[in-house]
Parts: sequence; C-alpha cells; structure tokens
Amino acid sequence: NTDAYLLNFKGYYLIRSTANTDLLKNLEEFEVRHDDVFIVTYPKSGTVWAQQILSLIYFEGHRNRTETVETLDRVPFLEHGVPKMKHQKRPSPRLFASHLPYYLAPKGLKNKKAKILYIYRNPKDVLISYFHFSNMMVMLEAPENIEDFMKKFLDGKVSGSLWFDHIRGWYEHRHEFNILFMMYEEMKKDLRSSVLKISSFLERELNEEDVEAVVKQATFENMKFDPQANYEQILKHDLGRRTDEGSFLRKGTVGDWKHHLTVEQNERFDRIFQSKMKDFPLKFIWD
Ligand code: PPS
Repeated sequence: NTDAYLLNFKGYYLIRSTANTDLLKNLEEFEVRHDDVFIVTYPKSGTVWAQQILSLIYFEGHRNRTETVETLDRVPFLEHGVPKMKHQKRPSPRLFASHLPYYLAPKGLKNKKAKILYIYRNPKDVLISYFHFSNMMVMLEAPENIEDFMKKFLDGKVSGSLWFDHIRGWYEHRHEFNILFMMYEEMKKDLRSSVLKISSFLERELNEEDVEAVVKQATFENMKFDPQANYEQILKHDLGRRTDEGSFLRKGTVGDWKHHLTVEQNERFDRIFQSKMKDFPLKFIWD
C-alpha cells in the first residue's frame, strides 16, 4: 500500500515517516536569508555528495578534520526530519538540502539572492539507485522487483514524484532563481573542475591546498568509509535498514542500469524519455 509510505503534499509525494509536517504548513513563507544555499535534487541524484562538497567548502573544521559533525546537521533537509537546531536558529550561512519541486520552493528564493545548486543524474541510474535504496530502507515501500519499481517510478508514485516533472520544472523556471545546474556524471568525470565551479558560484574561492582537501574528501572511495558522509547514523536508526546488507554509498558509478534493465525495459524507458524530454536542452550521459 503505497499511501502508507507516501505523503501527498499539494500533488507532490514525500516520505511520510520523515516529512516535517510543521515546516510544510508554512513552507511558502519560510524565511530565506540572502546567504542561504540550497542543494536541490531529485532523490538518488547526488544529494549526499553535494552535501559533503558544500560542507567541506564552508567549514574549515570539516576540511582539516578537526570537527566531527553529522552531514545532516551541517546540511539538513529543509522538508524532512527534525534538525537538532531549528532552521530559524541556525547561524548564517545556512546550507540546506531539498528534494522539493520548483513550485513548492519558499517564495524567498525568488529574490535571487540565496543560491541553489541543482544536481541531476541520468534517470536510468537514478531508477536503479532508487530501487536498491527502496529495498534497503524501512521508510520506503520495498518493491517486488525492478519491473514493479520501474512502473512506480515512471508513474511518479515514489517520493520525489515524477523525475521528468522535477527536472523540467526547475529548468524551465530557472530564470526565477539564482541556480546552477550540475550533472552527476560530469562531477564523476572531473571532480576537481566541479568543485571549482561550485565554489566560484558560491563566491567561496579556495586556495590550492583547500581545493585538494575538498576533492580528496569528496571522492566516492573516501566517503564510503567516512561514517559522517555515508549516513551510518541514519542507517542505524529505527527508520534505517531493513536488512543488514547494503549501504547508502552503494556503487557510485555511471551506467549501472546496464546490469539491471532488460532490453525491453530499456527500450520502453527510452520511448518514454524521448516523449517526455523532447526539446529539453540539457544533455545526459548514460554510460
Ligand atoms: S538521497 O537519498 O536522495 O539523498 O540519495 P543521493 O545522495 O541523492 O544519491 C545517492 C547516490 O549517489 C551516490 N554517491 C556518489 N557517487 C559518486 N561519488 C560520490 N562521492 C558519491 N556519494 C554518493 C551513491 O552511491 C548513490 O548512488 P548508487 O548508484 O546507488 O551508488
């Protein structure tokens, strides 16, 4: 029963058990500060990676490993969970993560001062990553198999709703926001350039040594064994793992869908992608 897991808020699905309903009620009016930064993603597109990169860019104590703070305390989700410190009480500059669609964004983001980093990933890899994650997490409905999950994904019956709507919405309304689009696959190909691009967008230029430290600590290999970066705390929680297997940082590769989709599923996906993404100017890297 999908509805037991999903909360429909103004036509958008969130994870019911972790949605911050108090915050959602006043979301539109949420007070945005000029120096706030929001990482916006569709689920499984590189959120925790961007959380790690931004936290490393902003916090010297993270970069030089003199401070140990959970990722979710450094870059909490706007609409999920109950952060240790209320958003309103956090000192500036505040970093946030969010999976919200453009039409639910706080109005204050439209004054174009606060910055948004939108990370997108090829949706076949998103699908596969999401499938594994749904099997692993108590808070998500476990799919029967890939076919079952693919139907839900293409129907938008998952938290985050329809992938096509999420990226199209944010892209088509990009002029209303101060937003930088970054592609997961490009970050994978050249992490150093991506870090430079992000820090320049954020107007946080780093010296050579700091850039090196950020890049080194934001690689998949490092994050996989960094308890802060791989969400070990969350996985230990009641709403954490359903089984002993699996980890938040699963594979971190491009093109894993090839090991999972059948020829028929892939062709069906392509047909739908082509019809939904006609005329869409952003390019995707599939393998
Ligand atoms: S969530 O639940 O929406 O916050 O998940 P999200 O963080 O967006 O996505 C998880 C996937 O991102 C991969 N990941 C990385 N890939 C490459 N490099 C780094 N450093 C990295 N960190 C996280 C993670 O492994 C998940 O993808 P899959 O394909 O499942 O491995």
